[in-house]
Amino acid sequence: MKQRDLLYEGKAKSVYRTEKKGRLIVRFRHDITAFDGGKKDVLQDKGSYNARVSAFFFKYLEKHGVKTHFVSMLDDRTMVVRELTMIPLEVIVRNVAAGSIVRNYPFKEGTKLDPPVIVIDYKDDSRHDPMLNDDIITALKLCTQGELKKVKAVALKVNDLLAGLLAEQDITLVDFKMEFGRQGKTIYLGDEISMDSMRLWDKKTGESLDKDVYRFDKGDVMATYNRVAKRIIE
Ligand code: CDP
Repeated sequence: MKQRDLLYEGKAKSVYRTEKKGRLIVRFRHDITAFDGGKKDVLQDKGSYNARVSAFFFKYLEKHGVKTHFVSMLDDRTMVVRELTMIPLEVIVRNVAAGSIVRNYPFKEGTKLDPPVIVIDYKDDSRHDPMLNDDIITALKLCTQGELKKVKAVALKVNDLLAGLLAEQDITLVDFKMEFGRQGKTIYLGDEISMDSMRLWDKKTGESLDKDVYRFDKGDVMATYNRVAKRIIE
């Protein structure tokens, strides 16, 4: 697979065209950002931790019947993916109250949410990713009602699969964010699922094992990512 011109550059990943129709290359960079890009750093090897964990999850999900954009890895931070038309939604599934749901609503941090709560935000940094509801999503024509139903069903299935997998490693999947795209009428899970997009707590110690370590200066971010990646993959 040959890398061609840069198609899109996000906060932590760059997307390139390839010589093959319908295939893109995603390079996970070592950049890390938080608070709408207000905090930024470059951390050695970060890209490869996130890329390898994402690839591991995508393969696991595919094996269990979830359609993802993952095709293969070219090296430890470079992924070949199916080209999708992205739907600008951030689909968040929450199993435990933490982060914005605690800041914005009267939930106590650490409260179990059963059944899980799905929150969908509009992916638009200039508007600070405002929360949407079904009517706004369809009025803005971000996707059809049928697609939205499918996205929510897949999100809950991914949550069940990943929460179960992580529980085996004594990790609580507190919440995580997904992005979806379409190719024709088919919906695929896209983007990444990594320590940058999940909130993970050690079941025994309660310690954060994700980007909260960076957001709130809780310790050595890369040492944490390294340990978590090992725990998840090996
Ligand atoms: O992180 P913060 O409290 O600001 O936002 P949240 O709504 O509590 O985030 C819920 C989950 O989605 C966390 O695991 C975040 O890491 C993830 N997320 C993300 O990956 N990208 C965003 N733009 C927003 C949230």
